[in-house]
Amino acid sequence: MLVQNIRLTGLLLSSIIASALACSRVTYTGAKDGRSLVGRSMDWLTPTNSSIYAFPPGLKRDGAAGNNSLQWTSKYGSVITTAYDLSTCDGMNERGLVANLLYLADAEYGSRNHSMPAMSLAIWPQYFLDQYATVAEAAKDLFDSNGDPKFQVRTKDLIPGVSTVMHVALSDASGDNLILEWINGKLVVHHGTQYNVMTNEPSYDQQLAINEYWSVIGNYSLPGTDRPADRFARLSHYVEMAPDAPDWVSALATTAGMIRAVSVPMEPINVNTPNITPTLWRTFADTKDLVYYYESASDGMYFYVDLKELNLGNSSGHTLQLPMVGVNWTERVGDMSGLFRQAEPFKFMSADN
Ligand SMILES: *[C@@H]1O[C@H](CO)[C@@H](O)[C@H](O)[C@H]1NC(C)=O
Ligand SMILES: *[C@@H]1O[C@H](CO)[C@@H](O)[C@H](O)[C@H]1NC(C)=O
Ligand SMILES: *[C@@H]1O[C@H](CO)[C@@H](O)[C@H](O)[C@H]1NC(C)=O
Ligand SMILES: *[C@@H]1O[C@H](CO)[C@@H](O)[C@H](O)[C@H]1NC(C)=O
Ligand SMILES: *[C@@H]1O[C@H](CO)[C@@H](O)[C@H](O)[C@H]1NC(C)=O
Ligand SMILES: *[C@@H]1O[C@H](CO)[C@@H](O)[C@H](O)[C@H]1NC(C)=O
Repeated sequence: MLVQNIRLTGLLLSSIIASALACSRVTYTGAKDGRSLVGRSMDWLTPTNSSIYAFPPGLKRDGAAGNNSLQWTSKYGSVITTAYDLSTCDGMNERGLVANLLYLADAEYGSRNHSMPAMSLAIWPQYFLDQYATVAEAAKDLFDSNGDPKFQVRTKDLIPGVSTVMHVALSDASGDNLILEWINGKLVVHHGTQYNVMTNEPSYDQQLAINEYWSVIGNYSLPGTDRPADRFARLSHYVEMAPDAPDWVSALATTAGMIRAVSVPMEPINVNTPNITPTLWRTFADTKDLVYYYESASDGMYFYVDLKELNLGNSSGHTLQLPMVGVNWTERVGDMSGLFRQAEPFKFMSADN
């Protein structure tokens, strides 16, 4: 919809898009009852036509990367948000592991090595949700005994003309974090509770270096544009200064407040504002109570899915879907757990380059 508002050449459009796609995520661990929440925004140039899917354990998965695609069977059920019903881009599993897929213009996945198993970028976050209960478990299983990653990630344009390059953040009920980036073909990992913020480019190491500058003066001055490094500095400051929440309501509100404060309001994208893509939606995952909140920025409503109510481990292996395109948003409020309907798992975008 926003893309149609502008008439630009493909070349100009793609250079704008490379610097424009965004998102922010934060892990908040300040609740007095020890709960950890993860909040994220999705900033994208055109509607993501998302659905929410609930996957059971026991699903057979294929990495969708052509020759020597990775195969696995889901061990845990999960509730996830799609982009175009082609990719998992956000979600939480029944053990409280959270995965967020965010844009990273500087990501580079390297060339295909056919002796390594591979998976499409579209299923990369789902790979973790399907198989691990904690960040530590996922971190321990990334590399083989030679120190080589156990898989490659391949990509293809999710929508025509928009190069799809992403990094992944994982978090769990203990507040641990794992930031995964492919830089110059190598998997670069940051693991620890301190890595509680992620936005977009530049690479995470550079982002941390820039943040060091702001962290000492953050009480007096913070950068205010929508650029990823500016959002990183602000979100780092907010989460460091966030008060301890006395209860779950306040913990959720604190997490939501930080993500709303780094969100980008709706404005048309044009040549004069190349760095802006609006926030389309936000999610907040409560890893203790296993409740997944979804807040639309275009339809004005706020709903949640209680993973315990869906009872994914005992759903007879059925996949469930909550559609969000072409629905009446007046009804997308409050507890959605009862509105899911049985569905086939969507087909992940294949990338066999
Ligand atoms: C998203 O959905 C709208 C409305 O159904 C449709 O017109 C549009 O083509 C879809 N976009 C993509 C990229 O699938
Ligand atoms: C391809 O992957 C295999 C298995 O990990 C590794 O031994 C080999 O060195 C890789 N080849 C190249 C060119 O990186
Ligand atoms: C498929 O992978 C094998 C190694 O597992 C390799 O020898 C072969 O050349 C690959 N085929 C294609 C079509 O890429
Ligand atoms: C910022 O202010 C808070 C609250 O007064 C204080 O605890 C913190 O040490 C200050 N940070 C810096 C870097 O001065
Ligand atoms: C699954 O659900 C059925 C029917 O509600 C119930 O009888 C059964 O005990 C449940 N099994 C587990 C493992 O929760
Ligand atoms: C949407 O749902 C509300 C509440 O059920 C209802 O009052 C309204 O008429 C519906 N709108 C449309 C366009 O169906």
